[in-house]
Amino acid sequence: MKLNNKIILVTGSEGLIGREICTTLESHGAKVIRVDISLQIDRSAAKYNIDITSEISVRNGLELIFTDHPKIDGLVNNAYPRTSDWGNKLEDIAYSSWRKNVDLQMNSVFLLSQRMIEHFKENKSGSIVNIASIYGTVGPSFEVYDNTEMTMPAAYSAIKGGIINFSRYLATYLGGYGIRVNVVSPGGIYDQQNEAFVKAYEKLVPLQRMGNPEDIAPTVAFLLSDDAGYITGQNIIVDGGWTAR
Ligand SMILES: NC(=O)c1ccc[n+]([C@@H]2O[C@H](COP(=O)([O-])OP(=O)(O)OC[C@H]3O[C@@H](n4cnc5c(N)ncnc54)[C@H](O)[C@@H]3O)[C@@H](O)[C@H]2O)c1
Repeated sequence: MKLNNKIILVTGSEGLIGREICTTLESHGAKVIRVDISLQIDRSAAKYNIDITSEISVRNGLELIFTDHPKIDGLVNNAYPRTSDWGNKLEDIAYSSWRKNVDLQMNSVFLLSQRMIEHFKENKSGSIVNIASIYGTVGPSFEVYDNTEMTMPAAYSAIKGGIINFSRYLATYLGGYGIRVNVVSPGGIYDQQNEAFVKAYEKLVPLQRMGNPEDIAPTVAFLLSDDAGYITGQNIIVDGGWTAR
């Protein structure tokens, strides 16, 4: 994969999927800039504590990053900020919570992307990969949550659907600057969820299992690489065939 020496900024680098994206990119020769609200800053290790939902934090954090890394080649918007009541069922969602999650999860993608795009335009190249979800494309199959306390939060569909189409907007707007924008939409990732849920979920997957972070990261790496140089505005769904039904 043509990723050698590319410098890629990954948000949510310390999470379930983010960690794997970072190590996969590194295994293909990229240098990774890790950005997460949970990180202690360590500039020599390219680790930055940024709250991607805060304008001040993004501005100050990027200033440091650009000082340390004057040319960045790619951005992965992967972080997953959410409120503590995320996961309420439709009837119980407070309007304030809906608004807050749209702000945290979707508006933050605009904020960081806009700042990074200024940088990419100066370089006349850049690649953005936004991490969405199958639920930005299809409605949930609610039977997988039977006999569990779980549900798929309603705002997720609006947020991820919004991110997918915002990515298409960016792709057409930025094509002339040599900037590519794509989406990776994972299906459900196994993370020791309730057994009843896992069994019910797996029954609906043609490949008969939930995904792992290792299933997702290679597609992110490919889209960032020069091998994907003619691919922009696409939503690549990595879901074991869930959305094929
Ligand atoms: N896990 C799944 O089943 C699944 C499925 C489809 C899509 N996704 C998507 O994949 C992405 C990663 O999900 P995950 O499951 O790895 O989540 P996660 O909760 O394991 O990790 C998210 C990371 O984001 C960081 N973060 C949260 N708020 C932040 C903020 N304000 N600023 C900076 N960093 C912040 C957290 O500290 C954490 O390290 C998300 O966009 C999610 O919607 C996940």
